Amino acid sequence: MPTHKIGYFVGSLSSVSINRKLSKALIRLAPAGLEFTEIPIRDLPLYSPDFDAAYPPEGQALKTAVEGSDGILFISPEYNRSIPGALKNAIDWGSRPWGTNSFARKPTGIIGTSPGGIGTAVMQSSFRSVLSFLDAPQLNAPEAYIRFDPAIYGDDGEVSDPGTETFLRHFMEEFGAFVERVLAANAPGHIGDEHPDERKLDR
Ligand code: FNR
Repeated sequence: MPTHKIGYFVGSLSSVSINRKLSKALIRLAPAGLEFTEIPIRDLPLYSPDFDAAYPPEGQALKTAVEGSDGILFISPEYNRSIPGALKNAIDWGSRPWGTNSFARKPTGIIGTSPGGIGTAVMQSSFRSVLSFLDAPQLNAPEAYIRFDPAIYGDDGEVSDPGTETFLRHFMEEFGAFVERVLAANAPGHIGDEHPDERKLDR
């Protein structure tokens, strides 16, 4: 696999985030051709259309990071059966100003963990609607709803359970292959690559 730049979002601001632990495991288990850079969300102001006329540096940096990535991976908790506010705010920043949606045609993957049995499944379901609206192709399978077991995950991405390690490694291999497929489809010469409105969203 050639090298691909993957920007990743951790949807938690917690200093003891289990999703950050999961992100370290995923990076450790990813195929050699993927290079990871976190896209930070902590210091973003709350998005308002009032910013559109002069995007602040934090918002512009996020857009630049997304646009410079070959693929985007979201690793997020579920808050009240939905997307944590800090992560949704970051996505709103990347989607605007209108006509400059940074996520358009960007290959994406979603994964998350919680101590509960459904492992962020409801959050991921609503997240998929957001990515569809953003015209961001998403890895459909395997789905990854991870019930967190603190005995399995080390602080530096170690995974002590062989079954979990195999599953996470497979998820990352499939994500890497998906990124390659979407990049190939996005390459010049394919149907639709000349479409002038490809990055616009409904108002
Ligand atoms: C939660 N948690 C939670 N868990 C879950 O499985 N479904 C849910 O809807 C929620 N809702 C929720 C709301 C809020 C505001 C908090 C703070 C927590 C529990 C959550 O899974 C747990 O705190 C995880 O540790 C969060 O992940 P990070 O932040 O540790 O990565």
